[in-house]
This record gives sequence, structure tokens and C-alpha cells, in this order.
Amino acid sequence: MDLSERFETIFAHKPAIRAVAPGRVNLIGEHTDYNDGFVLPIAIQYAVTVLARPRTDGRVRLYSVDFGAESAFDTSREIPRDEKQPWSHYERGVFAGFLNRGITPCGADMLIHGDVPIGAGLSSSAAVEMATAVAVRAMNHLDLPQIELVKLAQEAENRFVGMNCGIMDQFISGMGQAGKALFLDCRSLDYERVPFPDDAFSVVILNTKKKRELTGSEYNERRSQCEQGVRLLRDKLPGIRALRDVSVSDFESHAHGLPERIRDRCSHVVFENDRVGSFVRALKERDTRRMGELFLASHESLRDLYAVSCPELDLMVEIAMDIDGVLGARMTGAGFGGCAIAVVKKGREKALEEAVFSRYPKETNLQPEVYVSLPSDGARVEILSD
Ligand code: GLA
Repeated sequence: MDLSERFETIFAHKPAIRAVAPGRVNLIGEHTDYNDGFVLPIAIQYAVTVLARPRTDGRVRLYSVDFGAESAFDTSREIPRDEKQPWSHYERGVFAGFLNRGITPCGADMLIHGDVPIGAGLSSSAAVEMATAVAVRAMNHLDLPQIELVKLAQEAENRFVGMNCGIMDQFISGMGQAGKALFLDCRSLDYERVPFPDDAFSVVILNTKKKRELTGSEYNERRSQCEQGVRLLRDKLPGIRALRDVSVSDFESHAHGLPERIRDRCSHVVFENDRVGSFVRALKERDTRRMGELFLASHESLRDLYAVSCPELDLMVEIAMDIDGVLGARMTGAGFGGCAIAVVKKGREKALEEAVFSRYPKETNLQPEVYVSLPSDGARVEILSD
């Protein structure tokens, strides 16, 4: 049964629109977004689809194919949480975001289905939020720019879900473009789309299948350590607002005064920000060797200084680096599990995949997954004819 038929079976009429929003991988610039820094994500081919039809009674009925469950609420009053169906908090948070902006969306029947692996650090949650947001915009004929929906989706995650994330995931899910990586300044939100020369190499995604643990609490702790670093560095560098404002040379002159742990965290962010610029240059020059070096430097810094890697991610990187034709590998996303990515010479993807399948399960008892994805388009809506 296809998704439209599924919708018809559940809601007894046909869907009116189809919204699609992708997951993402971040090429480089990890834990920099909430430090007002730089990131370079791509939207991937795995996505969340929302089929929807407006209702006139203000009721929103959500059906998740992946959880096989339903959750419902009304748009006419403040939107409550549904602790029995926590998957619905992403959609609820988006509806709440419209209400916070003084917009009362119409009710809707909505069916949600994704093929972005859940809990793998590929931003299935941002994909759900963005697909919901563009669906609500279309059903209500709202004239809101995509960037406004990106901010609304981030707020949904921060306020409704309680994850204090930066803007990267929602931004790339909303603004991605096929064939391009997105070089984003997370302070100004200025961005540049950088062509991704997929004839020269592939980005292979290696899912450790290690469930991300502690992500929420450790994530928020890293954030506050960075903020503490900024407060301490301000003694010497009074103009700084965030770690983004600290150059590598300023950091090298003033870091010795910081407590060791704070120094390590800040060091990662300052150098990682710098690596993003270098990586963009390497990408434009198709300098795959340099790209690989920067990947490895990023991984080592996330492992040793930011302390967000885990044995499974380190093992993936190690397995990848043993393969001829792999130029570099690193963990991607928040860390503590999830996925690593590798830059691989065209034609060597299979060799990497085989090595991962033969070595990784033996050493971890986990069954990994491997995906190759080209950069894809961001969130979009299609109006379906009856
Ligand atoms: C998660 C967050 C992002 C970003 C990354 C780390 O994916 O949602 O905002 O901070 O971690 O780079």
C-alpha cells in the first residue's frame, strides 16, 4: 500500500498536499553552530514525508507510520504535550510556533513517514519539523519565507522538545539544494552554496547503530562550557560575544589562563571554525587530500578536546582509514553514537563498505549500516490533484 492509500484508509479521504524535508550530514564545523560559528552541511536523500489535508474544525490528527500511532490536539488553544506519544512533540512544537507568531493554523489530518534513520544523528527530527512547517504554510496559504520556518522549527526543538540545539539542522533541511553543500555563518545566517564535485569523490555515511546516549545533557553541558570560556576570555578580549569572535592567534595568546577542561572545549571550537574555511577552499579546489586531513583533524579534536566521540565512532574512523582510497573520516553530528562520514575516492565506496561489514560487527556486536548520499533539495511541497 502506498502512502496516499494509507492516508485514505486512516482518514477516509485523499491527501491534498505532500511535503518532503530531508535529513542531513555535516561535512565539517561540529559544535560550532551554537557558538555563532560556521558549518558546512549537506541535505541527504533520506527524508520525511508528510501527507496532509486541511480540516475545518481546528482539530489536528497526526498519524505516524513509523511509530504506528496517533496523536491529536486542537489549534484553538495552547498546544499540550503528549507524554504517551513523544514523537508528536516535533509536530506539536511547530504548530505552537505558528501560534506564538499570532497565526492560528487550520486543523489538519497528517500522515508522517520518514526513511531518515531515527536516532542516528542524521537529523530526522529537523526533517519532521521542516516537513510539518512547510505543510502548515501551504495549507494556510501563508506568505512566510523559508528562513522564517527554519527559525520556527529550531524554536520548536528548543522550547517544545527541550533540546537546546543550534540552527544548523533545521537550516539545511529547509535550505539545502541538490548538488551543493551549504556554507553557513550561524550568526548572520549568510550562506554560500558550494558545488559538491561528486565526480571526484563520495561522502559515505557509516551508521554505528550505537544509540546516542546522554546527548541532551552532555550537549547542554558543552554549550555552557563554551559560554563560560567566553566569559573568562573576555578579561583579555573584551569585544567578544561568542567563541566565533576568537581567532586562532588570539586564542593561542590567551588560552593559558583558562581551566584545562574549558580550554580544551574552546580550543576545539576555535580551531574547528577555522577548519571550516579551509575545507571550503579545499572543496572548491577539489583538493581531496586536504579535505581528508581536515576530516581527521576534526575527528581527533572532537574525540580528545570536545570529548563527544565514543569507541564505536572511533572504530568506524579507524576501519575507514585502513582502506586505500579513503581520504579522511570523522564523526558527524552531536556525537556519543550516531554516524561517522568518510571522504572516499570514486570507485572505492564498495571496499569501504565491505571492510565496515566485516570488521565492525565482530568488534562491537552491532550491525552497522552504510549509505552513500548526494546533496539533495531542502523542504518542499507538492499540491496533489484529487
Ligand atoms: C546537533 C545539533 C546541531 C549541532 C550539532 C553539532 O545536531 O542539533 O545544532 O550543534 O549537533 O554540530
